[in-house]
Amino acid sequence: MKRVLVATGGGDCPGLNAVIRAVVKRAAQEKDWEVVGSIQSFDGILKEPTEIKILDDAAVKGIHYQGGTIIGTTTKGGPFAWPVKNKDGSWGSADRSDEMIRKLQYLGIDAVISIGGDGSQKISQALYEKGLNIIGVPKTIDNDLSATDFTFGYQTAVQICTEAVDKLKTTAASHNRVFILEAMGRDAGWIALSAAIAGGAEACLIPEIPYDIKKVKEKLDTRFLKGKGFGIIVVAEGAMPKGGSALAEESTEVGNPNLKLSGAADRLAAELKEAGIEADIRTTVLGHLQRGGIPVAYDRVLATQFGVKAFEMVLEGKFGQMVAYRHPEVVGVPLPEAIGQQNLVDPKSNLVATAKGVGIAFGD
Ligand code: F6P
Repeated sequence: MKRVLVATGGGDCPGLNAVIRAVVKRAAQEKDWEVVGSIQSFDGILKEPTEIKILDDAAVKGIHYQGGTIIGTTTKGGPFAWPVKNKDGSWGSADRSDEMIRKLQYLGIDAVISIGGDGSQKISQALYEKGLNIIGVPKTIDNDLSATDFTFGYQTAVQICTEAVDKLKTTAASHNRVFILEAMGRDAGWIALSAAIAGGAEACLIPEIPYDIKKVKEKLDTRFLKGKGFGIIVVAEGAMPKGGSALAEESTEVGNPNLKLSGAADRLAAELKEAGIEADIRTTVLGHLQRGGIPVAYDRVLATQFGVKAFEMVLEGKFGQMVAYRHPEVVGVPLPEAIGQQNLVDPKSNLVATAKGVGIAFGD
């Protein structure tokens, strides 16, 4: 039997299980392939004893509509930066990539499918350069990978964020309040922008278009007359005022290199008050609700396409590539191309023009 190892790395995202299931179901159509999962990304390989799981039909039954990942994930460490406690109690890191590749050989792994975002795919490329037969599958609710038109998980996050706008509207209207909804997305404003359009927000503030608070106030002023009216603002967690920067702090998790973005909604509320908004302003930070629960149908379909394609690329020996959706095809793109550039909202794009066309203010 030949063995393909599947690992999910980075933050979880609706649709991961649908990819895993698709890999297993496609592999089952070949007589000589077995699929195994590494528990919590590559940690499962690096741990003693090894934590891997056979992924057969029974293991993936009915998981396509489950959120999360049945093999776990982590944003910490990885084979090139394994957290190691120094003698003085501080944390350092060790490169265990060679050891991991040896262990994969020992376990009879012929190929690896690494499902993850930009950080995970940088690891995929580095492992490929060391000779590992690896294929990447992009995932992130942020939709910020440039090689693919869309990542799965994004549409689910947009749906959840839109439902939040819908719900906030009724309470905002009842109380004549301003509601600020903070959406995830890191440096990209995709989730906030799509939810603002779908939900009919008054303003949408995204990292790609730094805002002028006076312009945001002007928009809200048009929504209030003699104390009546309401306003909904969707703000991306990475949004920033003109001349300012996104609010971020170091992660307190050992080995997690990512900055934690938070505080955009509260900062905006304070700025609006200072600018003279009299209405009551409330903030809602949607947070990880955007990553939880069942994936919408679109994400399940895309995830399934990615899983089937990834296994077929294993069969064809197309290693060092990442699966990508380029409408209407699912193709393989070289990993360096896939990790080279972020996919950010173009302020001159049709989506921004559409939002402006229906009166959504960006504060620009
Ligand atoms: O990249 C996905 C994402 O959900 C971002 O939108 C968000 O900033 C980040 O991950 C949160 O990461 P964590 O779950 O590690 O706090």
